[in-house]
Amino acid sequence: TAGKIAEEMGYQVYMVGGIVRDILLNFPTLDLDLVVEGDGIAFAQKLAQIFKGRIKSHKKFKTAVIILSSGQKIDVATARLEYYEYPAALPTVELSSLKMDLYRRDFSINTLAVHLNPSRFGKLIDFFGGQRDLKQKKIRVLHALSFIEDPTRILRAVRFEQRFNFHIGKQTFRLIKNALKLDILNKVSGNRIYQELILIFKEKKSIQCLFKLQEYNILKSIHPLLNLTENLQNLFLEINNILNWYNLLYLNEKVKIELLYFLVLLSNLKYEDTKKVISRLNFSKKQKDIFFELREKTKFCLIEFDRYPKKYITKISKLYLLLDDIPIEGILFIIAKIKNEELRQKIAIYVAKFRRIKLAISGKDLIALGLKPGPIFGEILKEVKQISLDNQIYDKQSQLELAKK
Ligand code: CTP
Repeated sequence: TAGKIAEEMGYQVYMVGGIVRDILLNFPTLDLDLVVEGDGIAFAQKLAQIFKGRIKSHKKFKTAVIILSSGQKIDVATARLEYYEYPAALPTVELSSLKMDLYRRDFSINTLAVHLNPSRFGKLIDFFGGQRDLKQKKIRVLHALSFIEDPTRILRAVRFEQRFNFHIGKQTFRLIKNALKLDILNKVSGNRIYQELILIFKEKKSIQCLFKLQEYNILKSIHPLLNLTENLQNLFLEINNILNWYNLLYLNEKVKIELLYFLVLLSNLKYEDTKKVISRLNFSKKQKDIFFELREKTKFCLIEFDRYPKKYITKISKLYLLLDDIPIEGILFIIAKIKNEELRQKIAIYVAKFRRIKLAISGKDLIALGLKPGPIFGEILKEVKQISLDNQIYDKQSQLELAKK
């Protein structure tokens, strides 16, 4: 359909980038990227109309996003010659605007395109050796200034390397080393680094990516205090096991992976140093507050568990009192850190079974018992919950009896 629309408008349209790479690799893929030689926004409007999708367009960049009712996104970009002002650009006369558009991209494996116009439908376009690099499993930049133009590509290189089990090409690796020597990541805003780290955290092989960031000296280039010591690496491996276990429980409480990973990544640092790294990454005020609150809470719990392991092993209600208001990320972190194996098991049971249990009674039932509403309600319900948890009393009638007492 896209090809026909373009043809009618007198444009050429191509499917480009990640989707072509993923199709050739037989990898699942989500978003569709199109490049139009012509008026990309006008084209996107037509396409959105036909598919009854919503459209958001960026006049300045001549790009648009179409969001279909299924939630699928289609990115549409305009390939225009006057768009490019790169020092490394080749003589423009020789280049189609598609080629120019692709030349601006990060790695050769992301420069493949498929023509969608009916007369040439399905033709694979490979200006920069992308197919060869896919075969050789190689991450390769298109020119020597690539990492200088966009230093976040250093992180992207590691992400793709791990995701596809590729390797970074020799020359490309040298360019990364050189860029790091120039302290190039220092010039990138905290926001952009943060976003790239989040993308890494969301990868299946996120931990392997992090280890590589350490190995390639990228972490310390983001901030000199970032150091994934062997200790921390082991902690990450442990966290990974725990996350796999937790995900298999299919509970409602979803883990915010970035919160958990930053908790681990910064767990060796003192408060002041942690603040420095977090400022570098431009955490918002709210993110900072959430992070430090969780950090304090988990620290407190770990000290408690260290001091009084018996107390928490014997009574679920004690675990409930301590852990109920701690977000799941904090609890998973605690499980990873705790040394007492018996207690660890108990906390795991608390998470898997007891944490979700709700009281069968509520304030309404207390009113029905003739009690006057007030802060005391909270106390009563909390106490009933403790007794219920320790004695496995889950039916409403018995809990009402407890409340009466
Ligand atoms: N791109 C780039 N430099 C960046 C970010 C993106 O050159 N710093 C290019 C890439 O070539 C990519 C395209 O823009 O193909 C779209 O970016 P993105 O959606 O991030 O890339 P995907 O390859 O689709 O990655 P993912 O599979 O992670 O979505």
